[in-house]
Order: sequence, then structure tokens, then C-alpha cells
Amino acid sequence: MNIGEIRQLIRMKPVEVDVIKRRLARCHNVADLRRSARLLIPRPVFDYVDGAADDELSMAGNARAFRRWRFRPNELVDVADVDTGTQLFGRALSMPLAMAPTGYTRMMHPDGEVAVARAAGRRSLPYTLSTMSTTSIEDLATAARASGQDDIWFQLYVFKDRGLTQDLVQRAAACGYRVLAVTVDTTVTGNRTRDMRNGLVVPPELTVSAIASISSRPAYWVRMLRNPAITFANFPPGHQASTVAESIGQFSSSITFDDIAVLRAHWPGKLIVKGPLGGADARRAVDAGADGIQLSNHGGRQLDRAIAPIDLVEEVRAAVGDAPAVLVDSGIRHGADLVVALALGADAGLIGRAYLYGLMAAGEAGVDRTLELLATEFTRTMQLLGVTSVDELRKHGRDLLAKA
Ligand code: FNR
Repeated sequence: MNIGEIRQLIRMKPVEVDVIKRRLARCHNVADLRRSARLLIPRPVFDYVDGAADDELSMAGNARAFRRWRFRPNELVDVADVDTGTQLFGRALSMPLAMAPTGYTRMMHPDGEVAVARAAGRRSLPYTLSTMSTTSIEDLATAARASGQDDIWFQLYVFKDRGLTQDLVQRAAACGYRVLAVTVDTTVTGNRTRDMRNGLVVPPELTVSAIASISSRPAYWVRMLRNPAITFANFPPGHQASTVAESIGQFSSSITFDDIAVLRAHWPGKLIVKGPLGGADARRAVDAGADGIQLSNHGGRQLDRAIAPIDLVEEVRAAVGDAPAVLVDSGIRHGADLVVALALGADAGLIGRAYLYGLMAAGEAGVDRTLELLATEFTRTMQLLGVTSVDELRKHGRDLLAKA
């Protein structure tokens, strides 16, 4: 049998020469992107993203809580055309999803925050810049706008130094950030066991074990050494810190609902409170002037054993009513997780690790892949459930769900 005869029997698959494209073509869900990132990124950096506080019970619980739900589909509905679009804070989104803030993002890949903002912008999805970002408030706004992304939000940590806090808020307002997300669950550092074991410092140091990792993860170190040093771009030299505990040590442990009211008075755009975990706190946040609530346990990185935010969506919706936005993060890894969130009454979900796995696996193209996968999964789940729009999904709500 010659080659010609063999070719008649089997269809030859074209070889993809681009390494990144080849890698991403093998990633069929967020778990695949995570596995790819793990092979490419030095352990302390991967663990900083992948890990959580103490025994990581909340992180595991977050995923379990989403996956506990089972669907009750409506059949014989024409689902040839499904509209996944929605409105959030006066903007049209291609789906009910936003990017949660993550600190130190250039440590995962030098394109960092800008890559994530641009990828989100390409799909008309909002991007939240962290206070602890490695791209400044001003640089991110300029780069995002240049790419057509203008739905940018700013996440605020309230510092002991209130002058510094005010300065951050004013800079974000001047740069046109639309939403201020005030994080309230980080009054002290979560006990990040993996980071302590790994001796994580920022930027990653060339310690003996790091040098040992160069041979197994050379591309990471070449990228790091070729690009500008990583700093906390929003702070003057006196406020730089080299460990997570050191940086969080600068945050206020005394933040109260009064601070929310003060920030409300100074912030011209929408304001959301990120981190209250229950109806009573959410109600007080709205009474203090918040336009929305971001239910979150920080992906399990702060208070271990904190309840899974998805389990509070119904309670919080009932407590605040229809008008305030109810957003939820912590544990979203699949488009079906978003469907669950909406059916329970949320307006949108946010992802942290899911886009960071993509970023670590393949830079900006990896974030594109994360968003493409989530969009495809979200659309397919809606079709198989027999719902054709996000409004319809919300309207059917709990009727689409059953506990496993
Ligand atoms: C975070 N998160 C976070 N939150 C915040 O308010 N400010 C911050 O600087 C950070 N930094 C940060 C870094 C990393 C590496 C991660 C993974 C997370 C929390 C984040 O905004 C979000 O609440 C969680 O990531 C949501 O959980 P999932 O999607 O990661 O499960």
C-alpha cells in the first residue's frame, strides 16, 4: 500500500505550526487551560493563582455549590437563534459575564492586565482593574480605550492611609472608570498556605529552586527577564511590598458601612460592594448607596470555610429587591455555572482564575480562548435548556433547576 492509497483511507489532519494555537486547540474547557498553565508556569506563581486560604475548603465548596444543581429543560422550543446579550449598568454585554479584579497579573504573563482587558473588550464584557495591579490606572485606561474597550471598572482596597485611598478614587474617576468595586473582605490577610510554603515574593525571585525551575519552564523566565520589572504600578516607592501579607498589611482593618457612604458621596459612577455574604449586609450596603452587590468569598482566598456565594444569591435578591445589581463570583469555571447563577436571580457572574489560567497558558490568546469556551458553553446550555434569551432564563428562574 502506497501513500496515495493510505490518503484515500484516512483524512490527514493539517499540522498547526503555531505553538500557541496548537496548545489552545487542545484545550476544550477551563480545566484543560488550567492543566496547560500548570505545565508552563513555575510552581510559586501557579500556586498563587490556583491556591486559596488555609485548607482551601471554601474554594472546593464554591465549585461544589455550582455543580450541585441539575437542570430541568423545556423541550420542543425553537432554539435555533439564541440571544445571550444583556444589559449591565447601562451597557450592552455579549453575555452576563465580567472580569473580576486580580492583583499581580503581569506576574502570570507580561501582557497582564492589558491583555485581559482587551480580550474582554473584544466580546463586549467589562474588565475590573485591581488596586494591586501591575499596570497603572492611567496606563490600563489608555491601552483599553485604544483597543476599543471602554467598560472598565476599578476595584478599591481601602488603605490605612486614607489620603492614598482618596487619590486612587480620584485617579480612577479622572480616567473614566465606570464602576467602583469596593472590596470589603480583606481587612486582614487570608492565610495563604501554599504561598507561605513556596516563599512567594513579588516579583518572583531567582532562588535556588526557581533556578532549578528554569530548565523545566524556560519560556516563563525568558518572558519575565525580557519585560519591565513587575511593580505595584499604582503606588509610590514607599508603598511597594514584596509579599502578599505585606501589601494587605497596608489595608484598613477598620472599614465600615460609613466608609461606603463616604465613597458613594465622592464617586461619580456606579458603586458596588464586593464581598458581603448575606442578605442583611447586602441590604445595608444598598442603604449606604451601593448600586449593586458582588457576592464573593474572594475565590476562597480570605476566610476559609466562608459560605459559597452562589448559595446566597436568592437570599440577597430577596433582601435588596429587583433594582440593585446582584453579581456573583467564586467558582465559575463553565458556561453552565453562569446559567445557574442567572436562574437563581443574579444579573451576571464574574471570573478570576478562569481567565488567569488562560493567560498563563497562552497570554492574550489564552484569555480569548477562556472567553470563547465560556460563551460556547453558555449558549449551548441555554439551547439545551430551551431558553432563547437571558430575560427568559431569568423569568423561568428556579423552575429550570433542581437540587441533585
Ligand atoms: C483575586 N481576587 C482579588 N479580589 C480583589 O478584590 N482584589 C484583588 O486584588 C484580587 N486579587 C486576586 C488575585 C488572584 C490571583 C485571584 C485568583 C483572585 C479575587 C477575585 O476578584 C475574585 O473574587 C475571585 O477570583 C473569584 O473566584 P474564582 O473565579 O477565582 O473562583
